[in-house]
Amino acid sequence: MTYSVSQLLTQDIKLQPIEIKGWVRTFRANRFIALNDGSTINNIQCVVDFESTDEAILKRITTGAAVHIKGDLVESQGKGQKVEIQVSSIDILGDSHPEDYPIQPKKHSFEFLRENAHLRTRTSTFSAVMRLRSSLSFAIHKYFNDNGFYYMHTPIITGSDAEGAGEMFRVSTLDTKNPPLTDDGNVDYKKDFFGKETNLTVSGQLEAETYAMALGKVYTFGPTFRAENSNTSRHLAEFWMIEPEVAFMDLAGNMDLAEDFMKSVLSYVLEHNCEDLEFLENRLLDEEKTKPQAERSEMSLIEKIKFVVDNNFKRVSYTEAIDILKNSKPNKKKKFNYIIEEWGADLQSEHERFLVEKHFKCPVILFDYPANIKAFYMRLNEDGKTVRAMDILFPGIGEMVGGSQREERLDVLKEKMKALDIDEEELWWYLDLRKYGTAVHSGFGLGFERLVMFATGMGNIRDVIPYPRTPQNAEF
Ligand code: 4AD
Ligand code: MG
Repeated sequence: MTYSVSQLLTQDIKLQPIEIKGWVRTFRANRFIALNDGSTINNIQCVVDFESTDEAILKRITTGAAVHIKGDLVESQGKGQKVEIQVSSIDILGDSHPEDYPIQPKKHSFEFLRENAHLRTRTSTFSAVMRLRSSLSFAIHKYFNDNGFYYMHTPIITGSDAEGAGEMFRVSTLDTKNPPLTDDGNVDYKKDFFGKETNLTVSGQLEAETYAMALGKVYTFGPTFRAENSNTSRHLAEFWMIEPEVAFMDLAGNMDLAEDFMKSVLSYVLEHNCEDLEFLENRLLDEEKTKPQAERSEMSLIEKIKFVVDNNFKRVSYTEAIDILKNSKPNKKKKFNYIIEEWGADLQSEHERFLVEKHFKCPVILFDYPANIKAFYMRLNEDGKTVRAMDILFPGIGEMVGGSQREERLDVLKEKMKALDIDEEELWWYLDLRKYGTAVHSGFGLGFERLVMFATGMGNIRDVIPYPRTPQNAEF
C-alpha cells in the first residue's frame, strides 16, 4: 500500500510492507535517505542496504531526485524519529543532476530562492509557508460557510474604475501599435473587445454590495490587481483579497465581524498547523539571534498569534489617534518623516506602526476617519466631516484590513460623487441599490498575503505567494 510521509509518521502503521513516493532531500553515508513528499514538514528516513543495491542506482540517489521506494516500516534505531523505512527496492522516477540542482541542502537566501520560485517550495521554509497559506484559505471559507455567508465570484475584468482604490491595469485586445482612433484623435475603445474601456479589478466591493442587498451576507475571495508603483515588502501588483459584505450591519458590527473572523482563522492554524508553525518559529528565533537584543521581538511567532487570538483589538477613533500622535515623542522630537500637525492629516505607515507597536502593543482598529482622505462610498457621520471607515492595523504588518459602513442615502451619495467628479452614469447600477430597498450595510477587505505574513512571520510579501507580481517582475 502507498502512504504519504505524514501518514507514516503520525498513524499507527505497524511493521508491514509499504510503498512511498517522494523527493530526496539528502542522502548520507550511502545509506540514509531523508525523503519528503510535501505532506508534512518532516522527512522520513529510508535506510538503504548499499551492499545489496546496484552501484549505478546508488549514484542516482541525489538531492532533488524523485524516487519510488518499497520496504518495511520499522522502529527507528537512530535518534530523532520513531519509525523509518528499511528499503527493499528503490526506483529512480526522475533524476536530479547533483551539480546543477539549485536547491542544495544548505541555507539559501530568500532573494536566491525568489529567482528559483519554481523550486523553492521544495525547501522546508517555503513548504511550511505554502501549507499554511492553503490552510488559512480553507479556514476563511469555513468561517464564512459556518456563519451563513454565501461565496460570490465578483468579476475580474471590470468596466468601472470608480472605486478609486488604486491605479488599474488596462484590459484590451486593441493593436497597441495601430489602435483605432476617434475623430478627436483619442483611442476609440468603442472598437475594443468589450466596446468600452476595461480594467482588472482593484476590489470586488461594489459588486459584493449588490449581492449583499439580496442574499444578506456574502463574501468574495479572489485575485485583485493594483498598478501602483510601490516596491515595498507589503505591496503586490496581484494579491488576493477577502471582502465580506453584510446587509443591515453598521460599523460597530463590521468591527465585531472582522475581529471575530481574524481570531477564528488564526485559531484554526494554531490548531491544525502546529508542526509548520513550530518550524517557522524556530527559523525566526535563529534569524533573531543575529540581531542586537534591542531589535529582537518580545514574543515568539506562536505567542504573537495566540496574543491576537486571546486579546481584544483596541478600538480608537482617528481623532484620538491624532491626539496620541501629536503628543508622542517621535512627533515632538521630529523623528517622524511626516510630522503630525493637525487633524485631517493622512496617517503614514510610520504613524500606524507607532500606534500598534509602541503605544498600544496590540492590533488596533482605527475608525471615523476624515471624509476627504477616504473613498466616496463611505457613510458620512452626523458631524459632517468624518466617515464610518475602519482600518485594522497589526504589529509588524501595518494595515491588514480596510472597511466601512457604506453610504446608503441616495442624495448624500450623489452629492459626494458630484463633488469628486465621479460619473453617475457609470455607476447607475450602484445608485439603483439606494433607490430600491436601500438599507444600512457594511463590509471590509482583508489582504490575504498580509494575513499569511502575520501567520508565518515572513518579512516580505513576495515570500508568501507562489509567484509574486511586482513592478518589473512577472517571471514564472
Ligand atoms: O484598504 P483597501 O484598498 O480597501 C478596499 O479595497 C475596499 N474596497 C475593501 C472593502 O471595504 N471591501 O484594501 C483592503 C486591504 C488592505 O487593508 C491591505 O491589507 C490589502 O487589501 N492591500 C494589499 N495587499 C497587498 N498588496 C497591495 N498592493 C495591497 N493593497 C491593499
Ligand atoms: Mg486601505
